[in-house]
Amino acid sequence: MTKLFSPLSIKSITLKNRIGISPMCQYMSVDGFANDWHLVHLGSRAIGGAGLIITEACAVEPNGRISPDCLGLYYDSHIEYLARITAFIKKYGAIPGIQLAHAGRKGSSIAPFKGFGRSKRSYLTKDNGGFDIFAPSPIPFESGAIIPHELTIEQIHKLISQFGQSAKRALKAGFQWLEIHAAHGYLINSFYSPLANQRQDKYGGSFDNRIRFLIEVIDSVKANWSDEYPVSVRLSITDHALGGFTIDDSVKLAKILKSLGIDLIDCSSGHVVKEQSLPSNDLKFQIDYAKTIKHEANIMTMAVGNIDSAKFAAYVIDENYADIALIARTAIKNPYFAFNAALELGITDTITLPQNYTYAI
Ligand SMILES: Cc1cc2nc3c(=O)[nH]c(=O)nc-3n(C[C@H](O)[C@H](O)[C@H](O)COP(=O)(O)O)c2cc1C
Repeated sequence: MTKLFSPLSIKSITLKNRIGISPMCQYMSVDGFANDWHLVHLGSRAIGGAGLIITEACAVEPNGRISPDCLGLYYDSHIEYLARITAFIKKYGAIPGIQLAHAGRKGSSIAPFKGFGRSKRSYLTKDNGGFDIFAPSPIPFESGAIIPHELTIEQIHKLISQFGQSAKRALKAGFQWLEIHAAHGYLINSFYSPLANQRQDKYGGSFDNRIRFLIEVIDSVKANWSDEYPVSVRLSITDHALGGFTIDDSVKLAKILKSLGIDLIDCSSGHVVKEQSLPSNDLKFQIDYAKTIKHEANIMTMAVGNIDSAKFAAYVIDENYADIALIARTAIKNPYFAFNAALELGITDTITLPQNYTYAI
């Protein structure tokens, strides 16, 4: 029998199954505030049976948003509506997680559906509703993109503390899982990738210097978060580009993160530089990264990458690729993926819809 629907306990929480909803930007906020859209988007996936529901990238300061429409947790007043969402998710048996993020040089973008779509970014200048963007080095993500301001040491320290302040707010909002977004070329990733970081100070150059920002963010988050609840880190396991961060680098980093008390590595990849060369357009190859990190760094992992069927999700867990299978696009198409996967795999005792649904079917 598959382990996909067996509970997973980490620290004080227990996931009812190994299916998680991967973070997905909604571009539906005004000034970082969550609203009814987020309640329905996240709440419906909790009703749909997933054990873990992680919010979209949630910015720790206004300039850390990917677009002006992105979620944030930089005001105390952001807490109230998020608390309504976490209460709803918990009520229906899932664990609410938040992904804390800073967009770095990929900030001030236009929501994909308002611009050129997912395959090409478009940017907002300051006189057109955009905002200043910051990065370890003044290198734009691609030609034509906005040139980021190089962060000063004082600004770096302020950002590290802002991650901690947002973690404290996340706890107050009732989240029981915190993910640090250190992937996809956003700020943290652009510190540890040699392709985006050309600093000469203690935050650039050697491997140890490039990962320093992430380590200090983790310290700040952990000082403001609860030891009772898990912290995961999403990494771009490789840059898919010559001279970039490699799988071996990620194994080395994951071992360090484990020693710092990180509970799981969420294994994504790429999007650090425009000129990347993916092994395939079908992201299923990313599950291999989860397996490598899990076994070589001896830390729990989350796999993500076109996990599009019950059978494939079960395979990921049962063949020890990862401890949790995360789904994004499949969950857009089917918010009830977990419930339907259980039915398809013949599991009828461990997952149920809310009573007011089950009695009817
Ligand atoms: C609409 C959309 C928004 C996304 N937003 C985020 C995000 O906020 N943070 C993040 O780490 N990844 C984000 N991703 C990436 C997904 O979490 C996931 O890693 C990726 O889509 C691969 O999983 P899938 O093949 O199941 O879609 C987003 C993906 C989609 C489709």
